[in-house]
Amino acid sequence: MTTPHGQLKAGDAPLPTMLPWHASDVGAELASVLAARHNVSARRLVEPGPDPAALEQLMEAAVTAPDHGLLTPWHFVLIPASQRSLLGKAFVSALLERDPGATQAQLATAAEKAERAPCLLLAVAHVDTGTNGIPTHERLISLGCAIQNVLLSATALGYESGLASGRSLDAPAVRSLFGLEPHEQAICFIAIGTESQAKPPRQRPAAGSVLRVLGA
Ligand SMILES: Cc1cc2nc3c(=O)[nH]c(=O)nc-3n(C[C@H](O)[C@H](O)[C@H](O)COP(=O)(O)O)c2cc1C
Repeated sequence: MTTPHGQLKAGDAPLPTMLPWHASDVGAELASVLAARHNVSARRLVEPGPDPAALEQLMEAAVTAPDHGLLTPWHFVLIPASQRSLLGKAFVSALLERDPGATQAQLATAAEKAERAPCLLLAVAHVDTGTNGIPTHERLISLGCAIQNVLLSATALGYESGLASGRSLDAPAVRSLFGLEPHEQAICFIAIGTESQAKPPRQRPAAGSVLRVLGA
């Protein structure tokens, strides 16, 4: 008999949990959601996207993330259709700031990026460390877990999703649009919708390649 972590040693007492983890219904469903989630670029995400009730479920998932110090050191911002053109303008400003010679075509692409995907969220980390000693990397891990919860829940609800980052996240025009405080850092956009055209799954690392044993 094996466990997810390797072979049992001779003499080990078998425990009830030593069935393969996907032997239970919940385990099988979790394994299938984990396997099904894959990054889909926002430009390939079309309607339908999550409605307000589904979005609430995604946020319910987010708030179950591990959170050292119980700070909720992050939040998400929904960018509704009515605000997409403002985001596009901020992307154009960000591009012009780093490349004043950008062409009209490049500026148009920058603006168009804001229109992609039926549901677009910005993930924001609260990175101040002065108040309670929980360092930035732990806050970022909490946000990463919250993001993964959102992605997996979107998959479970039948949607596809993708992440997008980039230099515009730190641009003054983008920070100002989202009203970010000095201690707040925009980490990435989360796009959610329905995949317009399926792509082949990526090869994932072998599970054994990411586990080392102390002393071995
Ligand atoms: C914080 C973060 C930012 C990301 N930003 C981008 C991005 O700007 N563009 C992109 O194509 N993918 C982005 N990704 C998605 C990764 O490219 C993707 O997760 C990776 O290719 C693995 O594919 P998978 O998610 O389908 O397993 C980002 C992922 C993370 C965690």
